[in-house]
Amino acid sequence: AVRLRVREALGAREPADAVRVQGWVRSVRSQKEVLFLHVNDGSSLESLQVVADPSLEKRDLTFGSAVEVQGKLVKSPHRMQNMELQAETIRVVGPCDIWSFPLKMKERHPLEYIRQFPHLRCRSNTLGALLRIRSEATAGIHSFFQDNGYVHIHTPIITSNDCEGAGELFQIGTSSEAKESAEETHFFNVPAFLTVSGQLHLEVMAGAFTHVFTFGPTFRAENSQSRRHLAEFYMVEAELSFTESLQDIMQVMEDLFKTVTSTVLSKCPHDVELFHKYIAPAQKSDITHKLFSSSCRISYSEAVEILKQAPQTFTFKPEWGSDLQTEHEKYLVKHCGEVPVFVVNYPYDLKPFYMRDNEDGPQHTVAAVDLLVPGVGELCGGSLREERLPFLESRLQRLGLTDAYQWYLDLRKFGSVPHGGFGMGFERYLQYILGVDNIKDVIPFPRFSHSCLL
Ligand code: 4AD
Ligand code: MG
Repeated sequence: AVRLRVREALGAREPADAVRVQGWVRSVRSQKEVLFLHVNDGSSLESLQVVADPSLEKRDLTFGSAVEVQGKLVKSPHRMQNMELQAETIRVVGPCDIWSFPLKMKERHPLEYIRQFPHLRCRSNTLGALLRIRSEATAGIHSFFQDNGYVHIHTPIITSNDCEGAGELFQIGTSSEAKESAEETHFFNVPAFLTVSGQLHLEVMAGAFTHVFTFGPTFRAENSQSRRHLAEFYMVEAELSFTESLQDIMQVMEDLFKTVTSTVLSKCPHDVELFHKYIAPAQKSDITHKLFSSSCRISYSEAVEILKQAPQTFTFKPEWGSDLQTEHEKYLVKHCGEVPVFVVNYPYDLKPFYMRDNEDGPQHTVAAVDLLVPGVGELCGGSLREERLPFLESRLQRLGLTDAYQWYLDLRKFGSVPHGGFGMGFERYLQYILGVDNIKDVIPFPRFSHSCLL
């Protein structure tokens, strides 16, 4: 018998005589004359209908059990389904104790409920769909950059730099160091951290390959209880040499977004539909916005003016020089008509040392850009980088970072060029396109939540 994945069986053009399908039972319906099973193997949202003689029914052939079915693949009389499998043999490979199994047949479990079972929730329709989408989006991101001439770089996960300078670092050491904590012994001789961003390493590589990208895990020790923050998340980052305008950076953000989203829509339409139907029904009409049919661009200073004139009162009073809070981001997106909003040119003192001084006053603003999107807030953050040695030297000096960043200053001595780049939070991207409220529902394992530390 030819072994077929469920997706292949469902999409087959021709009937076939001897096929074998393996998977997990999603439903069992036993009638007098016939036994119906639905078998799913994760290759598609849709399960394969198996039709069998009731004599093949066994006690351990239950919802959740693992089975191997052998038989004939035939045209289905059902309008909704192309093919079905007429079983000749059904073997229960692994039975399932349905009484203690937390998922129940034919139930749409709420995301909050299945989050309690990080090791089993991937067998639900919703997480199944999410993880297939996540996989296609990952491939789409790599293709987008590869197709556009970017070189992929594996930037380090263990590093000694704090790229963002925000002090949201996880410091690492060996387990024996942890025991003798008082001593200043470091495995790497210097303090080492989990990376918060691969940007500085990408800047090195952009000085040789012109256009580079990285897509890997990043770590932030910040409030991970919020519905849009994780301690461990994936970031897509791109860096472009010979780039003098923020507009070019924004264009790449937009192209990346559009291309990857179209790929996902065309590769897994049913999986996406599940989200638009059941998870965020209001989102469907919105999908055109999500493809950037329109967007809005304002400066930070304009944003503050808009906020000051808002008819509502904010918990954090909007003021030039202060960070935009979630409530502010929400208001700005609403003000612009619930479309993606680019906010450019932030106050110098609000942003990390690497951002390029706009020279519109003494250390007044830098060439930064944040992309805010409806329902999620900040999706991307980027900037032009300070490529001018004297500007960078004096800024690092003021921050007392000159020694630590000698290598970074070197880049400005040996063939420095105007350059810039950005980072996009991958989980926030998924939240946005799918309308998922809690960021813990778009990762494979909801770590550091509940009691299960998988
Ligand atoms: O804005 P951020 O901090 O930018 C950087 O790290 C730059 N060095 C990137 C670059 O220019 N190469 O982070 C980029 C994005 C944010 O816009 C947000 O989408 C996401 O990463 N992000 C998080 N996502 C989930 N959980 C967190 N704790 C996040 N922190 C940032
Ligand atoms: Mg940011």
